[in-house]
Amino acid sequence: MKTIQDYLENGAIDIAPFLSLVLDKSSAELILNNNYQLTFDEKSCIDSLVLQREKGVPFAYLSGSRGFYHLDFKVTPDTLIPRPETELLIDIALELSNANKALKVLDLGTGSGIIAVTLKDKNPHWQVSATDFSNKALEVARSNATTQIEFLQGSWFEPVTNQSFDLIISNPPYIEENDAHLDDLSFEPICALTAGKDGLDDIRIIVDQAPEYLEKNGFLLLEHGHDQQDRIVELLKQKFNNIQTFKDYNSKDRAILAQCK
Ligand SMILES: C[S@@+](CC[C@H](N)C(=O)[O-])C[C@H]1O[C@@H](n2cnc3c(N)ncnc32)[C@H](O)[C@@H]1O
Repeated sequence: MKTIQDYLENGAIDIAPFLSLVLDKSSAELILNNNYQLTFDEKSCIDSLVLQREKGVPFAYLSGSRGFYHLDFKVTPDTLIPRPETELLIDIALELSNANKALKVLDLGTGSGIIAVTLKDKNPHWQVSATDFSNKALEVARSNATTQIEFLQGSWFEPVTNQSFDLIISNPPYIEENDAHLDDLSFEPICALTAGKDGLDDIRIIVDQAPEYLEKNGFLLLEHGHDQQDRIVELLKQKFNNIQTFKDYNSKDRAILAQCK
């Protein structure tokens, strides 16, 4: 039978996360118990996970979770895997000048719920709603929520007609439909990724309709592709002011905050 040490010494793939997952041990515990012999079932489970990983399945889908900001989130192939870039939106939202007030917040295209759940956890005095057109993603988002958040199914603003918000926040699909990098993302839901020829179809809808759902001086905060910032600023100019642009932690243009006129 193989021991932990046999696996650690002899992996083409970084094996430690798989051992941790199957044996429910931290990296330190793996090293401390490196003579432990895996049972037949544990070995079969690891071999099957490694095989799937070698075929390209992202580790987050194999483990079923991914950390974001200060929390762990359930993820499934029905949801986008949370990206570190999106933490920028959380930082910006938490720094808003009126963040200490009881803001009414809408997260559009919530996916696994990372934005809505993180904001509500950090600011329990905010009233948070979240929409997605995928029922399966919403199921995951609901399971990730530990506090009261209203999850609603429908396309963009459809489920919140007649409501208005102090902050609308979104990480919408923004990849061009012919982008070569999509091949690397083939395990994630395509409808969470692409938005027409120039990647801006969904952002155009959100920018166009958001003013109907924002209080005067309400904020719109969007994540976007690294080469889309100038075009989104142009889209915003008509109905928004105080437009601020942000770079992510890799110094790439990544987010825009604007206030409704
Ligand atoms: C880029 S993912 C972001 C998911 C999550 N907010 C995050 O940051 O990880 C975009 C999300 O928008 C949702 N979506 C796509 N088109 C939509 C539409 N027309 N109306 C509502 N949600 C939509 C997708 O299902 C997906 O969950």
